[in-house]
Amino acid sequence: MWRRKSLAILMSEASEDEKGLKRTLSSRALVAMGIGAIIGAGLFSLTGIAAADHAGPAVTLSFVLAAVGCAFAGLCYAEFASMIPVAGSAYTYSYATMGEFIAWIIGWDLVLEYALGAATVGVSWGAYLNKLFAHFGIMLPPEFTNAPAEGGIINLPAIFIVCILSLLLIRGTKESAFVNNILVVVKVIVVVVFIILGWQHINPDFHVPYIPEFVPAHIDPVTGEKVGEFGGMSGIAAGAGLVFFAFIGFDAVSTAAQEAKDPQKGMPVGILGSLLVCTVLYVLFSYVMTGLVPYTAFKGDASPAATAFAVTGYSFLQMGLIVAILAGYTSVILVMLMGQSRVFYSMSKDGLLPRFFGDIHSKFRTPWKTNIFFMFFVSIFAGFVPIKDLGHMVSIGTLFAFALVCLGILIMRKKMPDAPRSFRVPLVPFVPIAGIVVCLYLMYSLPSESWLRLLGWMGLGVLIYFAYGKSRSKLNKTE
Ligand code: ALA
Repeated sequence: MWRRKSLAILMSEASEDEKGLKRTLSSRALVAMGIGAIIGAGLFSLTGIAAADHAGPAVTLSFVLAAVGCAFAGLCYAEFASMIPVAGSAYTYSYATMGEFIAWIIGWDLVLEYALGAATVGVSWGAYLNKLFAHFGIMLPPEFTNAPAEGGIINLPAIFIVCILSLLLIRGTKESAFVNNILVVVKVIVVVVFIILGWQHINPDFHVPYIPEFVPAHIDPVTGEKVGEFGGMSGIAAGAGLVFFAFIGFDAVSTAAQEAKDPQKGMPVGILGSLLVCTVLYVLFSYVMTGLVPYTAFKGDASPAATAFAVTGYSFLQMGLIVAILAGYTSVILVMLMGQSRVFYSMSKDGLLPRFFGDIHSKFRTPWKTNIFFMFFVSIFAGFVPIKDLGHMVSIGTLFAFALVCLGILIMRKKMPDAPRSFRVPLVPFVPIAGIVVCLYLMYSLPSESWLRLLGWMGLGVLIYFAYGKSRSKLNKTE
């Protein structure tokens, strides 16, 4: 169970692409893929809540803090991806460094990030589609737009988007990247337009004091509800835990390493480039948002960006916002679904999952059976589970994977110090250790139910590994 896959085997698998995945993605497409997966529900829905409940105008600093945490993990991902340019991301890296069992644990855990991430954003997508329809006077029946726990029967719009994008992914990686590029351009243009137009309407009074005075966590005497830490450094940190969700996805770039034209250069550029672009946009966007209306106006508001930009008086921005959000969420779901299929593809190639998941379509050269499997799997979550239960699972699963990738760099630097890689994490061991600390801290700030669910999911994974993967592993046969 601790056996490791050698770098030599990994590299030979990556070059064996005659019948496998096609190398079609340029560095630009990889940056677009990263931005595609990153800007979504986190920016458009959580910024306001983080400002109102935790950080006030200093939500910009929450974004910076979360970005620093992600940058530690991002640097570690970039080194691994430039060294092991094989599909499968964190799963593949741990197979080479920490052995098969940990690799399986990570691969299994990534389902929480990618598959449930796609489901979470799918549910949000459905909610905004309703808003768009309502704009034109069309009301979709609530039974078919909500999960059973929210008074509905099934959330059909969320299932619809998951199915359409799964079918697009089967059609081809290049075609999917093309659609993703268009969606990314739309969402980035709208975000930039919002920043520029909104900037002129900022009321500097709303930014004073920039860091509100600290109020400890307490029970609200009127409503009896738990209120988190607000203001000061603690409020900024609590806000960072929330907006961390907005950065999830930069690592999805690394799942496509086997489809990158020049992975040695493209992987670090794709991962770190997309993270940098999004951080700059997030800080500016949240600065403008909290300058347009007092942050208290965002309390409990699911579409705070719309609330803020209403004061500019540009009514076309309202419509533009909904279109950008729909485009933005679509690309997040697309890249998440793609990442998920590539992780299962790799696990199946290694014998840890049935061969079915590794089958490549003869014409489209995509892992189509995995795409179909996840079309159903993600649809079940998108159609029947409320969004709040999904979101925390995604964050905890992702943080766990990030921490293990940082640990992997520490191990690899010891075990394989001379293996060639085009990108090296600076300041080792500081950066990986800082990455682990930040991830554990953010995991600690998540509710205890998400810890229990994480343990439950992982327990199921361990059972499957011992019942299926351990004996069927390809490494088992070569030993
Ligand atoms: N970062 C992605 C989003 O905010 C998951 O939607």
